Amino acid sequence: MTSHLHELDVATKIALEAAALVSRYHGTNLKVDHKAGDEPVTEADRAANDLIVRRLRAAFPDDAILSEEMPDDGSRFHNRRVWMVDPIDGTRDFIRAENGFAVMIGLCIDGRPVVGVVSQPPTHLTYGAAVGESAWCQGPDGVRAPLRLSTLKAPPGIRLVASKSHRTGEIDAFRTALQITDEINVGGVGVKIGLVADGRRDLYVYPGGRTKLWDSCAPEAILVAAGGRLTDIFGTPLPYTDPELHNKNGLLASNGPLHDLVVQTLGTIRRATDPAT
Ligand code: IPD
Ligand code: CA
Ligand code: CA
Repeated sequence: MTSHLHELDVATKIALEAAALVSRYHGTNLKVDHKAGDEPVTEADRAANDLIVRRLRAAFPDDAILSEEMPDDGSRFHNRRVWMVDPIDGTRDFIRAENGFAVMIGLCIDGRPVVGVVSQPPTHLTYGAAVGESAWCQGPDGVRAPLRLSTLKAPPGIRLVASKSHRTGEIDAFRTALQITDEINVGGVGVKIGLVADGRRDLYVYPGGRTKLWDSCAPEAILVAAGGRLTDIFGTPLPYTDPELHNKNGLLASNGPLHDLVVQTLGTIRRATDPAT
């Protein structure tokens, strides 16, 4: 097996540098623009993008890069190795000077995430992983602890994390079906999946289609390396080589043992509300 610890090491250094850059903007009076789909973007998103892309190009000149704050130039279709970058995931939280945001850098090889780094400036937590090799969370003191998922196999007692900005009624039906009484809502996808990867939550469910490939790539590498699973809500692997950038069929991140039960439950809810599905 080829080792990707070098890629993890370089991506970690870049993410920490970008996290420090982003922190300098947090809580300041930011100029906010709006992109298609009413997605906010700030000067901090662009500055972090420039730094990350420059550093990745210098370290891995032969690799393709897909970043939220750059046009998709199609180079990803001609390269086995594609870095997927979200310079600030959770920009809404970032703008409101809240804490649910992160810098995310992932590497897909042959369409599967193999390296991921998610760095959260407000908490000084950085999650890093290379699938099959290493999965850790680094604290403010720089000490790394191995990621440990929860081991819950069935209800009751499921601890859910769900969207803050895009929560739908489907989550209520889902909670009822799985007897879930414990739900928290935080901003970015990376922060939510980090909570599953380090065992503080059992499950993240997002039935909508707003997230894109850079939202899931780094978190998926981290969760999978830790022993968990990330798929769409039908249990199908996410399509990283598709021209389509959206994860149209939602996201389901779990500790692993709960995954199949959750896929079945979501399917039952969908068939009950829309018998045509
Ligand atoms: C957003 C966040 C949010 C998700 C949106 C994403 P951004 O990312 O991850 O949680 O619901 O779909 O676009 O735009 O802040 O990078
Ligand atoms: Ca994002
Ligand atoms: Ca973003």
